[in-house]
Amino acid sequence: MAISGSLRLQSSNTRLVHAIAGLAPPGIKVKIYNGIAQLPHFNPELEGDLDLVAVKEWRTQLQAADGVLFCTPEYAHGVPGTLKNALDWIVSSGEFMDKPTAVISASPSPDGGDKANASLVQTLRVMMADIPEEAILCIPAISAKINAEGDLTDISTEKALRSILQTLDL
Ligand code: FNR
Repeated sequence: MAISGSLRLQSSNTRLVHAIAGLAPPGIKVKIYNGIAQLPHFNPELEGDLDLVAVKEWRTQLQAADGVLFCTPEYAHGVPGTLKNALDWIVSSGEFMDKPTAVISASPSPDGGDKANASLVQTLRVMMADIPEEAILCIPAISAKINAEGDLTDISTEKALRSILQTLDL
């Protein structure tokens, strides 16, 4: 399963998620989950609320996934609030336990969203996600690496993404 941390229609991270789905080897289906914006604000008092359909769906999709791959932008040196909110719903339900997970950040800046990437890795590891070092990638200058049609235009980025798919071994 692949998740973009950006809600922008023209998001480079969302384009990346689609491009990665296209790179998956035969037999591997990368499902794109785009429900994070539908989740309510996290409140621990609502954890057991059976009416929270979006939360149940999010947890069910995570349980069903053999692995999870994130592509996220960085906002003010942090993880976008919508994505962090989605993860807060999982802290006590445990769907990330031992889940093979990749963390990719992409930014037009030279740092490639490294602060958000590190923070996301830290949050997911607290939840016991299995994140191999080889499945962590910061992509700087993203505007020059994927075009408006969503085609990867940089060979080394494409190679790195293929390698992450291999590392996850789904
Ligand atoms: C940004 N951007 C940004 N980039 C970065 O590398 N570090 C940062 O801290 C920030 N902070 C930030 C805050 C806000 C409010 C906005 C709107 C943008 C730039 C950001 O990386 C750029 O807009 C990306 O294109 C966002 O990713 P998507 O939406 O294209 O996937």
